[in-house]
Amino acid sequence: MSLTLAIIKPDAVGSGKAGKVLAHLEGAGFTVRAARMLSLSKAQAGAFYAVHKGRPFYDELVEFMTSGPVFPMVLEADDAVPLLRETIGATDPAEAAEGTVRKLYAESKGRNAIHASDSDENARQEIAFFFSEHERLGTGRS
Ligand code: CMP
Repeated sequence: MSLTLAIIKPDAVGSGKAGKVLAHLEGAGFTVRAARMLSLSKAQAGAFYAVHKGRPFYDELVEFMTSGPVFPMVLEADDAVPLLRETIGATDPAEAAEGTVRKLYAESKGRNAIHASDSDENARQEIAFFFSEHERLGTGRS
């Protein structure tokens, strides 16, 4: 079993789809190990997406991610990182496969409902960004 981080983004939280997205993820085989709802500051969103600093969409991304509450969660499954990326679909919902979270719930490439870690190393860093060790419930990991 391994862990990954998902963030239900402000578009999906604000339109009342967080529960549907969470149910979809559980239906895909993930177990939720930690979750919370919070509002990111500009500095926090900028730091989380620091890898994209300088890209043309960076300011828009930070603005969007601070436009309302987000719902980060730690998810566990076999091969959690690739399984979650497959479950959520392509970044642009127009290119996402049928039945994926983004095909079902995303509005656009920017307002795309959900974030998922793209590697085990980034998953570790992104989980630590949002959750202290004692919040990662039931994982049995230190
Ligand atoms: P996410 O998986 O959260 O990681 C980086 C985010 O940048 C991505 O989802 C998109 O929401 C956003 N993004 C990537 N490309 C673009 C783009 N061309 N225009 C706007 N946002 C983008």
